[in-house]
Amino acid sequence: MVDSMEPSGLPPFFGPVSSILSLKSNIGSGLVFGGQVKANAERKRIARARFPALKTLDSFEFAAIPALNKQAVLELTKGHYLEAKENIILVGPTGTGKTHISVALGIAACRQGKRVRFTTAAGLINELIEAQAQLRLSKLETTLLKLDLLILDEVGFVPFSKTGAELLFGVLTERYERGSVLVTTNLDFASWTEVFGDARLTGALLDRLTHRCHILEFQGDSYRFKESLRRKEKAKT
Ligand SMILES: Nc1ncnc2c1ncn2[C@@H]1O[C@H](COP(=O)(O)OP(=O)(O)OP(=O)(O)O)[C@@H](O)[C@H]1O
Ligand SMILES: [Mg+2]
Repeated sequence: MVDSMEPSGLPPFFGPVSSILSLKSNIGSGLVFGGQVKANAERKRIARARFPALKTLDSFEFAAIPALNKQAVLELTKGHYLEAKENIILVGPTGTGKTHISVALGIAACRQGKRVRFTTAAGLINELIEAQAQLRLSKLETTLLKLDLLILDEVGFVPFSKTGAELLFGVLTERYERGSVLVTTNLDFASWTEVFGDARLTGALLDRLTHRCHILEFQGDSYRFKESLRRKEKAKT
């Protein structure tokens, strides 16, 4: 019996210590390799999302905007809203961090394996109009429909043309209860008709968008403005 023992005292079944160690290190390197594959996939999803800049919550100063519900933001980073196909609307004046938070939520979604696309409303309308002219609108619409999260930044900056509004309406209607949309806007809902140009279409759109929706209000002063004041003060000293 003793003869059949390995020098380590382990029965042969367990094999020599060296092979256990190498097995361990193989499992270890497998984990490292798996981690690498996951990191690469994550990087690809983030690149495909086309974020304008990589912003996360680590660099967001919640104290600068006390009106913003921090707990709600943190909860959204967990991504349950994506499973429930719920929408998010970030509303507030310019420079208050809406785009920053939208990117942070988008990156969090990419890290959870979700397909995300960031675009401005005007940018998406241009893409849709171009696709329509090149007879590949339905292909683009299908691609958009496959996204888990479509981030539509800056709704309200510029009014849409009639065709633009209708195309955007089409995309958002198709996504209704099929995939999440995150909209950032500096307009209250009452003013959306001015952007979409048609009261009936705007009503139908808002009805769908806000049906299952998390609304975060960014009431406060522009962070950009405060930062530039701080820089000027610093330059004086
Ligand atoms: N609370 C904050 N903490 C840290 N950085 C912030 C904060 N709020 C805004 N910023 C930074 O200030 C700049 C302006 O913010 P952001 O672009 O997100 O504002 P916005 O609400 O989208 O403005 P707009 O309506 O003009 O598009 C960005 O560089 C952003 O990272
Ligand atoms: Mg913005």
